Amino acid sequence: MSSSFVQSVSPLAPIGVNAAIEAAANPDIKPSSKIFDEFALTDRVGIVSGGNRGLGLEMALALCEAGARAIYCLDLPEKPSEDWVKTKEYVERMGNGSRLEYISVDVTDQAKLWEIGEEIGNKEQRMDICIAAAGILKTHTDCLEYPAQQFQDVMNVNVNGVLFTAQTAGRQMARFGNGGSIILIASMSGTITNRDHAWVSYNTSKSAVLQMGRSMACELGTKNIRVNTLSPGHIYTKMTAQYLEKQPHLLEKWSNSNPIGRIGRSDELRGVVVWLASSASTFCTGSDILVNGGHHAW
Ligand SMILES: NC(=O)c1ccc[n+]([C@@H]2O[C@H](COP(=O)([O-])OP(=O)(O)OC[C@H]3O[C@@H](n4cnc5c(N)ncnc54)[C@H](O)[C@@H]3O)[C@@H](O)[C@H]2O)c1
Repeated sequence: MSSSFVQSVSPLAPIGVNAAIEAAANPDIKPSSKIFDEFALTDRVGIVSGGNRGLGLEMALALCEAGARAIYCLDLPEKPSEDWVKTKEYVERMGNGSRLEYISVDVTDQAKLWEIGEEIGNKEQRMDICIAAAGILKTHTDCLEYPAQQFQDVMNVNVNGVLFTAQTAGRQMARFGNGGSIILIASMSGTITNRDHAWVSYNTSKSAVLQMGRSMACELGTKNIRVNTLSPGHIYTKMTAQYLEKQPHLLEKWSNSNPIGRIGRSDELRGVVVWLASSASTFCTGSDILVNGGHHAW
């Protein structure tokens, strides 16, 4: 290794084997675990689109539990859902100083989103985390008959809306200069095609999100803004319930399509988003993390 090589240092240094080597040289040092400190989101500020329900709300709560100062949920309804209100109260009762906030906005409105980002930045004086989870899935529609407007509607939310959400947070991350972590919610449907489902718009949009993540990661790496995509498999939420309730046989079919033999729960994404948002993943960018019960392995 050349003598000009300078190793970067963990914000929690000394850590890992270096901590062990320091402790070996100094009997006064009492070894203590730092592994969970690496996952702590103490004082961080973030936005979560689609945070009124489903995966977005579950992820927003996980960020609060990990110690974030404030997580802003951005979603369409003027007033948040009952589940969201109960989750906000739960966060308050946890007593770790974390706040869950709600802002009504359509993610296809770039100007409005940027304005909201600026207001949050002015108020909190930082921006660290972005989860772009707002997305839509239309009903079965044959690809050769797919109507232009319906295709455009899906692209507007699932592609344009994801870019605008990432920009909203990324612009504030660049403004404050502390770096940050942007997590774009893609889907395994961006890589595989869900068997027997005519979802050409959804699948196309999720592939676009995968490449958007890699592309943004390459532009923003030197600003220490990391961009990764998270690709869940079948998870039970209102989005998938619209299928499972009308076609109950799909539960068995989807369950049998992965080696674990069941569909996922939204809480099974808590760990991965906290990891991606935190200092435990500082060398991870431009990656797609598949969490799908192994669906892709068959
Ligand atoms: N549930 C699954 O199995 C699954 C699997 C892979 C990926 N995903 C992705 O995860 C994300 C969350 O999905 P979910 O299952 O929680 O669905 P969901 O329908 O429960 O939640 C999606 C949220 O996005 C919001 N939203 C939609 N359009 C919006 C807009 N224009 N502006 C602002 N908010 C808008 C909705 O109001 C809703 O609250 C989506 O991107 C979805 O494609 C879900």
